[in-house]
Amino acid sequence: MSQRLPMAPLKIRRATPEDTLALIELAVEAFGESARAIAEDEFQTIGQAVRCQLHMLVALKDDVIIGMASLCENYSYIDTYCLAWVAVKKEHQGQGIGTSLVRDSIELAKTLTERKHGCVMLVSADRNLAYYTQLGFKGQTQIHPYIDETSNGTILTYIFKT
Ligand SMILES: CC(C)(COP(=O)(O)OP(=O)(O)OC[C@H]1O[C@@H](n2cnc3c(N)ncnc32)[C@H](O)[C@@H]1OP(=O)(O)O)[C@@H](O)C(=O)NCCC(=O)NCCS
Repeated sequence: MSQRLPMAPLKIRRATPEDTLALIELAVEAFGESARAIAEDEFQTIGQAVRCQLHMLVALKDDVIIGMASLCENYSYIDTYCLAWVAVKKEHQGQGIGTSLVRDSIELAKTLTERKHGCVMLVSADRNLAYYTQLGFKGQTQIHPYIDETSNGTILTYIFKT
């Protein structure tokens, strides 16, 4: 018989440099060993005031990181933010944590945007298309597959007003 995990309250906050090692391990769990080098490189800007800063949100239960999502400004087009590294630990999936992280990332993008509207974009693997579509993302443009993926990714956008 499967055991239900106790429902500890969910907390979502901005990641700090101290979270980096735990986030790299979560990235490897969610996306495979080949994601390690990219995570080690990209996560260096967490909490740093640099131009290409990764704005990382982490979800915690009992002060343990169980999920993450990152936003990075797309400097090729104004008020556009790339959502990536959306992952929830396997044993906590299906409890709405991914949804909270994506919704909070959109709210974070609104605070980063200086104008009246903006866009969060992402590239989704086929297996997650239904997930992001039900969260309001739209799009059909196909792009090359991610590392270790066999099928193309699809570029999705979420247009928002602040
Ligand atoms: C995709 C992921 C982040 C979803 O996180 P989660 O916390 O399990 O998602 P939620 O609990 O918020 O899901 C909300 C709803 O979407 C559904 N859902 C979850 N993953 C889905 C998927 N891949 N496709 C379709 N529906 C999905 C859930 O069943 C749930 O439905 P319900 O409300 O009817 O019960 C998680 O499965 C994950 O970490 N996957 C591995 C990494 C990955 O592929 N990340 C995305 C690429 S950036």
